[in-house]
Order: sequence, then C-alpha cells, then structure tokens
Amino acid sequence: MKQAVFFLGKGGVGKTTTASAFAAGCATWGGMDVLAVSLDPAHNLGDVLGTSLRENPSKVGEHLSAMEIDVGKWIARYLASLRKELSSTYAYTSVASLDSYFSLLRYSPGTEEYALLWAIEEIVSRHQAYDLVVFDTPPTALTLRFLALPFLSEKWLEGLKGLRKAILERRQTVLRLDPEAPVRGARRPEEDQLYHRLLGLQRRLASLRELFLARSTVVLVVNPDELSLRESIRIREELAGLRIPIAVVCHNKAREADGVWERKIKSTFRSIPVVRIPFTEDETLHPDRLPVRELVDRIIDHVRKEQS
Ligand SMILES: Nc1ncnc2c1ncn2[C@@H]1O[C@H](COP(=O)(O)OP(=O)(O)O)[C@@H](O)[C@H]1O
Ligand SMILES: [Mg+2]
Repeated sequence: MKQAVFFLGKGGVGKTTTASAFAAGCATWGGMDVLAVSLDPAHNLGDVLGTSLRENPSKVGEHLSAMEIDVGKWIARYLASLRKELSSTYAYTSVASLDSYFSLLRYSPGTEEYALLWAIEEIVSRHQAYDLVVFDTPPTALTLRFLALPFLSEKWLEGLKGLRKAILERRQTVLRLDPEAPVRGARRPEEDQLYHRLLGLQRRLASLRELFLARSTVVLVVNPDELSLRESIRIREELAGLRIPIAVVCHNKAREADGVWERKIKSTFRSIPVVRIPFTEDETLHPDRLPVRELVDRIIDHVRKEQS
C-alpha cells in the first residue's frame, strides 16, 4: 500500500457513503488500484456497495476491492497473543487465574483499540499491491483512541524498558555480591526475552506512527449542522495534538440554500480546503451516484504531493 486515506466524522455525516464513492472514483478516474476497508464494528460498507463483504478483499470493480474486518476476531486474536506471552513469561501463574483475567480484559479499555491497530498493521502490510487503502472508521471516540495509541504507548514502553533494565541491573549486582545467589534469568538486556519483546512492540508502534504521520491522508466529513461541526472541531483538536494533519474537509449533504453553513465551515477550518458534496436525493446512494470528482482530484493531488 502506498497511501492510506481515513474518513473521520460524526456518526451519520456520510463517512461510509463518501468513502466508498471516493474509493470508486479513485479507481475509475485516478487509475489507481484501491482497497476500501471498513473498520466500523457496525459495518455498512457492503450495504452501500450493494454486496456482502468479508475479511478478505472482494473485487467490486475493475480497480476496486473492498473488505470489512471482523473486529471480534481481531480482539480474540489479540487476547490470545497476550495470553501466550503472559503464560510463557509468568509460568507460575495458574491457568485458572489467567482465564479469569482474560475474560475481564475482553471488555477493558484499550483492548478494542489495540485489536484495530493490529488489524490496520496487517492490512497495510498484506495488501501492498494497492495504491490506496481507504478506511471507513468506527465512531469518533474509538477512532481517536486507536490513532492516539501508538503515540501514547511510546511513553509507557520507554518506562517499561527502563524498569526492565533496572531489574536486570539488580540481578547483576546481586550476583556480583554473591556469585552463588539463586538468581534466575537474563542479566543483560540483549539476552532478555522480555526486553526483546518490548523492543519488538516499540518497532511495530513506531511503524504505525510513521503510517499515520507520513503515509496517511485524513478526510474530515462534516454536515451543515451544529452537532457535526462541533464534533469535527474536537476531532481537529485531537489530531492536532498528535500532529496528524487533516488534508480535506468534506462538507457533505450540502444544500443550495446553505451559504451560511458554507461560510461557517470554511471559516472554522481556514487553512484546510473544503470540498462540497451536495445532498443527493437517492434511496440507495450507490457510490457512482455521488458527485465526488472534486474530492477525488483534491486528494489524489495531495497524495502525489506527499509522495514526491
Ligand atoms: N451527499 C448525501 N446526500 C444525501 N444523503 C446522504 C449523503 N451522504 C450520505 N447520505 C445518507 O446519510 C446517511 C448516513 O450516511 P453514512 O455514510 O452511513 O454515514 P456514517 O458512515 O458517517 O455514519 C445514509 O442514509 C446515507 O445514504
Ligand atoms: Mg458508517
């Protein structure tokens, strides 16, 4: 994958609709091979594209494929990998107590976010042949949390590495004082499995940060209404904190008589280009029916500039 495009915005503003129309447009006019991916546990990308989707890409057009990730499966996978790590690191912990711990972890904060991050990591590395991967995102709060996770995790991983180093140094010290002391396990970071795992995790998160910062384009979808505008302002603030730029604001469901909103949206986002997509009366709103040419041209332009 050369570039990722994330569609963000309040529920109902038209992320799924505009993301699929955009993906179809890039495939048709942009001459790109595009993969549209739904990360939303309440999938409806397949409904919009008029087909049922699975975890592997289905071809929905000459240059367009689409898939919906199974969030539950990714959570189970993530928990299984944690369980394996923990039971090998803490062999003395009984299976029963690990089981009760993991049934709690399934619903604990962070689990869904990590599961989504690892899903994105795999999609990006497995589907490198695509020019563009377009992500339709879950509700805002969850999206902002998974985007922030690689940045936040960096801080506590550094902390954990420091702690681990201190433990290894203590082992060294004890053995210097008494070479016969019953000290088990590694004494130097380079021979310590746990330290290596922390380094591995750090590398994976660094590569996700690089994906979000250097190979991603964010489209913020907003409607001419107060609630969606307020939520988009919060999204902009959160993304600014992570230094993830917004490439384009998509003023979706725009109506002719909306001049006031058009000005309001433009003045809210100032330096960010605003692309207008009209409200379209159509029962199914198939991607081909939505006029997204300007959005496609703008983003392709943006992506090419980023890549050059
Ligand atoms: N430009 C548009 N004109 C008219 N209706 C639209 C437009 N964009 C989206 N919709 C409609 O708005 C509703 C929500 O769109 P959807 O893409 O599911 O939003 P989200 O993914 O942000 O929750 C759907 O009924 C969709 O058909
Ligand atoms: Mg949606």
